[in-house]
Amino acid sequence: MYTSTPQDKPWTVPMLADAKRDSRKLVMLTAYDASFARTFEAAGTDIILVGDSLGMVVQGHGSTLPVTVADTAYHVACVARGLSRALLVADLPFQSDATPERALDAATTLLQAGATMVKLEGAGHKLDVIRFLVEREIPVCAHLGLTPQSVLRLGGYKVQGRDEVAAARLRADARAVAEAGAAMLVLECVPSALAQAITSDLTIPTIGIGAGPHCDGQVLVLHDLLGVNSGHRRPKFVKDFLAEAGTVAGAVAAFAAAVREGRFPDAAHSYD
Ligand code: KIV
Repeated sequence: MYTSTPQDKPWTVPMLADAKRDSRKLVMLTAYDASFARTFEAAGTDIILVGDSLGMVVQGHGSTLPVTVADTAYHVACVARGLSRALLVADLPFQSDATPERALDAATTLLQAGATMVKLEGAGHKLDVIRFLVEREIPVCAHLGLTPQSVLRLGGYKVQGRDEVAAARLRADARAVAEAGAAMLVLECVPSALAQAITSDLTIPTIGIGAGPHCDGQVLVLHDLLGVNSGHRRPKFVKDFLAEAGTVAGAVAAFAAAVREGRFPDAAHSYD
């Protein structure tokens, strides 16, 4: 049984695993400025992500690749001024995590701007990066499945882990990022059953986006939650919560309640 009340204490990194252990679903949204961040927190959001989606939804690029550490740090500082309770996660932009040393520099900049945790995409050589950061007191959220920084190799934004080999690889990668020290894992665009298996393999929380209802929490991009046209195709997992709620705070509250009660995502917003 899931609880449906947000927590009123400020979030810390160890509380993420506590929430999973206590079957409390985590509610996460992206934000890029102080006012949305404040509104989202007040409406019950646990975790705010300054995602490199900012390249697509704020800066108007066709991918996340042009986003820089300076861009992200600017938005992290803006968002941090709007928060008093939510955990603030910042994306390490494309190639800022190509080596452990580069990642340490970028992550230090983002933590000094106000983030509590950095998120990075992939496993493989990124396992060394995760270990290097965690050993240096930088909390890390991993991101597997559809990793948008791999768009050129992948040839588009597609569901990942559909065949047996790819699913086994993703499951092994998820274990590996957790063993390397990641404290949370975002799973993007993977079949629900695979996300469920990964979630039960791990003691760290999984946060789904297009990964079905069995993850330990859910994240949406602000513009998708509010039905704002960012100029990009709207994937199946996206739901416009503003259409029914009528206000931004109402949309966030509806999203948070639906996540906490296990009602979002439903089958219509998930992949088989
Ligand atoms: O950049 C971003 O907003 C993200 C979310 C889609 C998880 O990584």
